[in-house]
Amino acid sequence: MSRKKIAAGNWKMHKTFQEGQGLAQEIRTMANTEVMNGATILIFPPYIHLQSLVRQMEGSDIGVGAQNIHDKEQGAYTGEVSASMLTSIGVRYTLVGHSERRQYYNETNESCAAKISIALKHGIIPVYCIGETLAERESQAHFKIVEQQLSALSGLSREQLANCIIAYEPVWAIGTGVTASAEQANEMHAHIRSVLSGMFDEASAEGISILYGGSVKPDNAKSLFSMPDIDGALIGGASLASRDFIDIAKSF
Ligand code: PGA
Repeated sequence: MSRKKIAAGNWKMHKTFQEGQGLAQEIRTMANTEVMNGATILIFPPYIHLQSLVRQMEGSDIGVGAQNIHDKEQGAYTGEVSASMLTSIGVRYTLVGHSERRQYYNETNESCAAKISIALKHGIIPVYCIGETLAERESQAHFKIVEQQLSALSGLSREQLANCIIAYEPVWAIGTGVTASAEQANEMHAHIRSVLSGMFDEASAEGISILYGGSVKPDNAKSLFSMPDIDGALIGGASLASRDFIDIAKSF
């Protein structure tokens, strides 16, 4: 996979089955009838939507992904969903390590590494989410924290890395209405590329898509997307309204 422009919607724990079908249909119709600038559109709804939305998006370029994946093949893990279950219904993407999962469900860089590995093994593209908290930024630890989070990718081959997407989401910008400035975000994206260049090589670092996430809205998307190292966005709140989501996707 080479670097792409990507608008990815993370629905989090929002939308009933019927509401989700309605939102997805609006997104599909708008993406089909409006001038879209070549952006790849991905949606990450809760599990209950996946099977029907994969079908609903057939014949379009819109990809459907899970918000989480289990790191084991199968077994006695009540409440969990495996990689082969996801591929059996046509899911080709998953988020891994979103900050809310790190915060509320104890996900660590180690568990993320295992999830990335099983996703890739099953042909699922992981969108690996990283980013520092406010306290970490204020204590100037943000670059180091992100480096540690990137260590979850260290066991991958270059070919496997090429099938990953990274989402840099500073925790202080998620759902707060505070966005990192385009310069702040680009500075971290460039840092991520330089760390990956050291871990793999320059071509791998240049080839990977790095999304920014954290209060992306139609009115700040253009300035973020104009930055050289920002390839798109992982969008929470604004992805729940079709007009806003599509307007962001049109901001490249
Ligand atoms: P937000 O969420 O756009 O609502 O800030 C982004 C995310 O958590 O992925």
